[in-house]
Amino acid sequence: MITKKMAKALNVQLNHEFYSAYLYLSMSAYCSKKDFNGAASWFLLQYQEELAHATRIYNYIIEQGAIVSLEQVNKPEKKFGSLLETYQKSLSHEQTMTCMLNDLSNKALNEKDHATYNLLQWFVNEQVEEEAILHEIISKIKLVKNDGYGLLMIDNELAKRTSAKSGALA
Ligand SMILES: [Fe+2]
Ligand SMILES: [Fe+2]
Repeated sequence: MITKKMAKALNVQLNHEFYSAYLYLSMSAYCSKKDFNGAASWFLLQYQEELAHATRIYNYIIEQGAIVSLEQVNKPEKKFGSLLETYQKSLSHEQTMTCMLNDLSNKALNEKDHATYNLLQWFVNEQVEEEAILHEIISKIKLVKNDGYGLLMIDNELAKRTSAKSGALA
């Protein structure tokens, strides 16, 4: 079992994961509009990955016999600037999520709730991977600056990602 306080905090995180999914869906639509089809497909997979995160928390709350409380999801932006700015916004969002997950882990430890702590460690590890991938993509975009051919090559690389589970560019 988990305390009501922890269930409430997990429901808040559940909402953040849905917002992450929503944000990436919006980034995908934006990249499609700009004809960065590789990036659009990359963000669509990122959207699916965030939905999987939400489902993981949802399942855990149910498994622990607590109440799932679905709240309204905030509206994401529609425009994100250049490809570089879009990925920078994505990284800054993930860094915010990392902070939230660290706070949540602290809360679980304070409550001596090791089951929830274990669940959260999976998320904390996932954040390390996500941030590393975004750093790598941002570095590559910075390398080519505004060179059209370079950006096209990066977009082609981003198109190679095939799974909702992130890993390198592909
Ligand atoms: Fe997530
Ligand atoms: Fe994420």
